[in-house]
Amino acid sequence: MYNSLSLLALVVPIALAAPAPAPAAVAVPHPMITPRASLTDRIPSKVQERGVVSSIESSIEGLGSYLTSVLGTYPSYVASGVPNFFQDFPTGSAVESSLGISDSDLAASPTQALNIPGYANWTDQGWNLRFHGNIYKQPNISESKLDDLANVFLVGTSIQALPPAEQTQARNLTAEIYVVQQGNVNVTFNIEPAASQGTDGTASGSGAVTPGGGAQNITLVGETTVEGDFDQFVPLANVSGPGGYLMAGNETTSIQRVNVYTNGTDTGNATSYLVPPAGLTIVSDIDDILRITQIYEPAQGLLNSFAKAYVPWMNMPDIYANWSKSIPDFHFHYLTTTPEQVTRNYMDFIYKTYPGGSFDTRPLNFSDVSETLSIRKFLLEKIFQTYPERKFILIADTSNSDVMKDYPAMATEFPGQVQCIFLRNTTATDPGDKFPYDTSGFQGLNQSMYMFFLVPDDLTNLDIVNGQCYNSTIPQNVTFSEQGLPFGLSKKSAAGRVDVGWNGVAVAAFAMVFGALFGVL
Ligand SMILES: *[C@@H]1O[C@H](CO)[C@@H](O)[C@H](O)[C@H]1NC(C)=O
Ligand SMILES: *[C@@H]1O[C@H](CO)[C@@H](O)[C@H](O)[C@H]1NC(C)=O
Ligand SMILES: *[C@@H]1O[C@H](CO)[C@@H](O)[C@H](O)[C@H]1NC(C)=O
Ligand SMILES: *[C@@H]1O[C@H](CO)[C@@H](O)[C@H](O)[C@H]1NC(C)=O
Ligand SMILES: *[C@@H]1O[C@H](CO)[C@@H](O)[C@H](O)[C@H]1NC(C)=O
Ligand SMILES: *[C@@H]1O[C@H](CO)[C@@H](O)[C@H](O)[C@H]1NC(C)=O
Ligand SMILES: *[C@@H]1O[C@H](CO)[C@@H](O)[C@H](O)[C@H]1NC(C)=O
Ligand SMILES: *[C@@H]1O[C@H](CO)[C@@H](O)[C@H](O)[C@H]1NC(C)=O
Ligand SMILES: *[C@@H]1O[C@H](CO)[C@@H](O)[C@H](O)[C@H]1NC(C)=O
Ligand SMILES: *[C@@H]1O[C@H](CO)[C@@H](O)[C@H](O)[C@H]1NC(C)=O
Ligand SMILES: *[C@@H]1O[C@H](CO)[C@@H](O)[C@H](O)[C@H]1NC(C)=O
Ligand SMILES: *[C@@H]1O[C@H](CO)[C@@H](O)[C@H](O)[C@H]1NC(C)=O
Repeated sequence: MYNSLSLLALVVPIALAAPAPAPAAVAVPHPMITPRASLTDRIPSKVQERGVVSSIESSIEGLGSYLTSVLGTYPSYVASGVPNFFQDFPTGSAVESSLGISDSDLAASPTQALNIPGYANWTDQGWNLRFHGNIYKQPNISESKLDDLANVFLVGTSIQALPPAEQTQARNLTAEIYVVQQGNVNVTFNIEPAASQGTDGTASGSGAVTPGGGAQNITLVGETTVEGDFDQFVPLANVSGPGGYLMAGNETTSIQRVNVYTNGTDTGNATSYLVPPAGLTIVSDIDDILRITQIYEPAQGLLNSFAKAYVPWMNMPDIYANWSKSIPDFHFHYLTTTPEQVTRNYMDFIYKTYPGGSFDTRPLNFSDVSETLSIRKFLLEKIFQTYPERKFILIADTSNSDVMKDYPAMATEFPGQVQCIFLRNTTATDPGDKFPYDTSGFQGLNQSMYMFFLVPDDLTNLDIVNGQCYNSTIPQNVTFSEQGLPFGLSKKSAAGRVDVGWNGVAVAAFAMVFGALFGVL
């Protein structure tokens, strides 16, 4: 394990050798910052191996055993295929020990809450609202210590070498990651009708309306999990306010907006949505569809995630703004598998750039490898089960192997509920993406319900409400097998081995660094 530092030196030049990505088309910088989440009622679903995994495993022959010998474990980044370096952050006592702080130091810090915007469905008992998030404490970390910790993430550069704005962002993110989650806490919320989303009202509320009443206090059943997480549905009482009542879900098509304040802290404010049984919901991924991440370019992806301001992908904000304006009662739900420690940063970006909506990120008790592979499916099933009569638009990009499997699976698992699947073909517009993806899940689906597209404009003028999901001017090349392998190779070629090229090597290298990093912690 102590070899990790020398490994770092070894790895950096390789990572930097990867070709520089094309500059982003649109570069409107946005400030950012945000929270964390959890789940107590989950039944772990079956772990599915990702297509990419086996390519990488077989391509970098011997890497696995090498990593195992060096690190003692096989890093989950390699196992999950795509270079998802944004995971395996330290938690709880690992944070305390790496910072050299004691329980009594921490006791002096105020308790904070990550309260993730939720959604409610209409039931015989009235509105049933989902509360999910995390309770934690933020240790007081000196700037020099923060810089040391940030430098561990900044492979190939250092915080001192970054421009001031990026230094601030890197320190902020590091501090967000180094928090100590608080288990066994009772959590109470104060609910009020919401005039807009958030305090600044910048996000348009996707046409949602303000209810006349509904102010009440809700205490969750039971305490937070050992990871500090909470996730449960609780019925709301039909209490009156100055403007009347909450509207019943079977008597309105409007989405009602409520503010949910966590009692005892001003860090846990969220806006949640009461969504009627019928209508249209978009479930949107974030990385490489709503913002430029380039997760498939490890060095760049790391900087984009860790130090740089988040930048929208081309004119996607216009597409979403137009949908929000033109589609009545459209429910926006942002579902990313990024770890809950960085939720605040994602929410901050989304609510300044895209329509307001509910949110899901990867809760802490889904942080081991096998669960990481099934979290998207779990979260998708949860929202589909909550709205058996609603129809869904699913959108993401081809670089997520779980998306490639889970999105089409929803169409089979919940017949009639998937209206459209839109996938940005990242390999088509970003030659740096050398990650293969598997389109076999689309085999049985009608072409009219999905589209692989290139740029946001391909989504314009589609009548998605009436099921027009395919822009016939965009040629489709779906082979229903593994696609996107570099150099025209196919996975099944030769002895089942594939050379994934520089990026594959760089990814593996990052896997080593990050695995080593958190192994040491
Ligand atoms: C990070 O910055 C955001 C606002 O830019 C702020 O809300 C958040 O509290 C900061 N987090 C930390 C840990 O400093
Ligand atoms: C709406 O649901 C409530 C509770 O289930 C029921 O009492 C009421 O009659 C329903 N209203 C309509 C218009 O169906
Ligand atoms: C954090 O610690 C520094 C000294 O290391 C101290 O000056 C500062 O007041 C502390 N901040 C808080 C919020 O406790
Ligand atoms: C949480 O609430 C329950 C029920 O009111 C109580 O028994 C328990 O002691 C509380 N836990 C804490 C840590 O306060
Ligand atoms: C919620 O609880 C607070 C005390 O923490 C109280 O001041 C407030 O009136 C309560 N709100 C409602 C709607 O009961
Ligand atoms: C609450 O009660 C009022 C008055 O009876 C009724 O008009 C309204 O539909 C009810 N709302 C809900 C959410 O049950
Ligand atoms: C909210 O928290 C305060 C202490 O911060 C406590 O006095 C109050 O009773 C709490 N309110 C509810 C409704 O739990
Ligand atoms: C949360 O809401 C409370 C009550 O409106 C407000 O005082 C506080 O500033 C808000 N917190 C943040 C971080 O906006
Ligand atoms: C409401 O959502 C819960 C939680 O997902 C689900 O179990 C329940 O069946 C839903 N109720 C209705 C009427 O759809
Ligand atoms: C994605 O784009 C690449 C490069 O243009 C192309 O080879 C591939 O067939 C496209 N994939 C799909 C599913 O359209
Ligand atoms: C399909 O392949 C053609 C020819 O390579 C390419 O121009 C087009 O962009 C591809 N379509 C998609 C959606 O990737
Ligand atoms: C299809 O895509 C083209 C090219 O991006 C765009 O100009 C057009 O508006 C889109 N929609 C339809 C319905 O053709």
